[in-house]
Amino acid sequence: MGRTFLEAVAKRRSYYKLGESVTIDDNSVVELVDSMLATLPSPFNVQSARIVILFGEEHRALWDIVIEELRDIVPADKFEATHRRINEAFRSGRGTLLFYEDTSTLEMLKRNYPLYADKVDAWSEQCSGMHQFAIWTALEDMGYGASLQHYNPLIDESVAKRWSINDKWQLIAEMPFGEAKDVPSSRSQTSPPRDRMRVYGLYNK
Ligand SMILES: Cc1cc2nc3c(=O)[nH]c(=O)nc-3n(C[C@H](O)[C@H](O)[C@H](O)COP(=O)(O)O)c2cc1C
Repeated sequence: MGRTFLEAVAKRRSYYKLGESVTIDDNSVVELVDSMLATLPSPFNVQSARIVILFGEEHRALWDIVIEELRDIVPADKFEATHRRINEAFRSGRGTLLFYEDTSTLEMLKRNYPLYADKVDAWSEQCSGMHQFAIWTALEDMGYGASLQHYNPLIDESVAKRWSINDKWQLIAEMPFGEAKDVPSSRSQTSPPRDRMRVYGLYNK
C-alpha cells in the first residue's frame, strides 16, 4: 500500500496468470472486504451487496465447479484449452471473491419507493460494480493481481448448493485474485480520452 488513490486506480489491471503464494495475509483480504462493505455507497444506503470470500481449497472448488459446468457446453475439441486456461488464469490463484446482490433488500426498496421501482435493478448492478471496482483496485494496491469474471448464471445453482448461499442472493460476478504472474500489455484507447468527454464552463485560475 502507499499509493495515492489516483495512482492505485491507474495501476489496476486484469491478470490472467495467477499464483497461489500467500503474499498478503488472508485476514487482510477479509478486513478489506469488511471495510468496503461498511463504507461503499448504495441506493438509499440499502447496502444490498453481499460478498463471499473463498481461499485455498474452497477457491479451487469454485473453479472445479466452473470447469464441470463448462464441460457440458463447450465443444469437446475446445474443452482442453478452456480447462487449461481456467486452471492457469483463475484456479491457480489464492482466492476468489463472489459478488452478490441481496434481492430481498432490493424488493423492499422497490416496495418502499415505488416511484423508483423500475430503477432499482440497474442501481443494484451499479452498486455491485462500485464494490467490484473498489476491491479490485485495493487488492492490486495491496500486492495481489485480480480479474473480473462472469460464469454466472451457469454456476449459480452448484455454487449456492456448495456454500449454502441464501436463495435471495443473486450472483453478479467472480473475482479471482492471487500472485500476479503475467504482465498486462500496455493500455489501448479506442479513442483519445479527450474525445470522450465534453467540458463546459471551465474556469482557469
Ligand atoms: C463490467 C465489466 C465486465 C467485465 N467482464 C469480464 C469478463 O467476464 N471476463 C474478463 O476476463 N474480463 C472482464 N472484464 C475486464 C475487462 O475486459 C478489462 O477491465 C478491460 O479489458 C481493461 O483491461 P484492464 O482491466 O487490464 O485495465 C470486465 C470489465 C468490466 C468493467
